[in-house]
Amino acid sequence: MEAVTPHRPYHLIVFGATGFTGQFVVDEVARYAAETAGDSALKWAVAGRSRQRLEAALERAAGRLSMPELRTDTEIIVADVSDEESLAIMCQQGVVILNCVGPYRFHGEPVVKACIENGAHYVDICGEPQFLERMQLEYHTKALDRGVYVIGSCGFDSIPADLGILYTQRQFRGTLTAVESFLQISSGSEGFCGHDTTWQSAVHGFADSSSLRRLRKKFGHKPLPVVGVKKRGYVFFSKEIEQYTIPFMGSDPSVVKRTQRFLYEEEHQSPVQYSAYIGVGGLFSIVKLFCGGLLFWFMVKFSLGRKLLTRFPSFFSFGLFSKAGPTMKQIEDTCFSLTFFGEGYSEGTDPSEGTPNAKICTQVIGAEPGYVATVSAVVQAAVTVLNEVHSLPRRGGVYTPGAAFYKTSLIDRLQNHSIKFSVRNWP
Ligand SMILES: NC(=O)c1ccc[n+]([C@@H]2O[C@H](COP(=O)([O-])OP(=O)(O)OC[C@H]3O[C@@H](n4cnc5c(N)ncnc54)[C@H](OP(=O)(O)O)[C@@H]3O)[C@@H](O)[C@H]2O)c1
Repeated sequence: MEAVTPHRPYHLIVFGATGFTGQFVVDEVARYAAETAGDSALKWAVAGRSRQRLEAALERAAGRLSMPELRTDTEIIVADVSDEESLAIMCQQGVVILNCVGPYRFHGEPVVKACIENGAHYVDICGEPQFLERMQLEYHTKALDRGVYVIGSCGFDSIPADLGILYTQRQFRGTLTAVESFLQISSGSEGFCGHDTTWQSAVHGFADSSSLRRLRKKFGHKPLPVVGVKKRGYVFFSKEIEQYTIPFMGSDPSVVKRTQRFLYEEEHQSPVQYSAYIGVGGLFSIVKLFCGGLLFWFMVKFSLGRKLLTRFPSFFSFGLFSKAGPTMKQIEDTCFSLTFFGEGYSEGTDPSEGTPNAKICTQVIGAEPGYVATVSAVVQAAVTVLNEVHSLPRRGGVYTPGAAFYKTSLIDRLQNHSIKFSVRNWP
């Protein structure tokens, strides 16, 4: 594990520990730290903008986990995104900062900047492509120069998809050229719900979708070579999962594409063409989604519309997001599966000739995506940075999870922590 020093006393600092997701991260880090001992004992602290709220968060975690020592033994660092000096002081004290302060488009950049300037590695659970891609554009060289790793989207967005594709590539004997993934979320009688801040991130992200096109132009990338691409309509009945499906609007396609570009440019691998879909059930769900989607697209374009959307998340999201967030029962009863259907060319066949002649089906499954799988994924990502920093690319930079952890054991670590990868029979 990366060494701590009297000047940098913590392996890990959880920033935003008072938040809805932050509280679950605190639990997971506390559990992980309790398993470590001696020279490899994890030293960690919590950070946020209010000492009082951080103390209360530790108090609650101590009760939930029956670990009274959390109240007395966990250091508290007060840092506010709007106070540069407080961020610098926080970043000087940790080897890795795990940032749970969102929406990242409003709060993320000062934290990335402070990490780079003060020599702390950075991981987050952002699912906002504009923020993730802009950080790569503006901070990759600075992070590389300072030997700092900045690794965004280490939660449910987009570890299962990004590492799921890497896993599928590794299991495929030959050259994998195209993959379609189908996300299914199953919940109990009380349904599935996400917390308001994720809804806010989505509202502002969709409102600003045109900036993504301008941002991508600035990279000046040449298009990735296309091998064996498959195209489908926007809405279709998937024989594979026996449901109607629509394109998945999250950050997965953006993250996977950046990883595939990295692997093509740095590792000379044939890039995989990726399409992400989500299963939505029967025709009635499609009609409901179509009407809701139209209203949403219309409203995000106007400031009054955005105000209404963010003020009444539950109403406008049909109960999918709420200010209170999911109940423990909803969390416990929810799980996800992400199934990958890939095709390509078997070993010894030339991908530049003929049509694909081999298929593979893999699956990533896990517990509730937003607050259980996300938390496992980001904590294991941070632990991987601490333990396998020499297996990360170059000596720093801004990376996707797939690019950063390509040569590490993160998939194996996740297999032991509620996210399972497996090869399936083609249905
Ligand atoms: N990738 C995924 O699958 C996934 C899953 C879950 C969440 N997320 C993302 O994670 C982020 C957090 O979500 P959440 O539901 O946990 O949000 P939340 O409950 O609103 O928590 C936000 C946290 O940020 C802190 N904060 C706000 N402004 C701050 C400032 N100026 N300085 C320092 N701290 C500040 C809050 O502190 P106070 O308590 O002091 O207000 C709180 O700790 C969101 O962007 C969400 O989209 C992603």
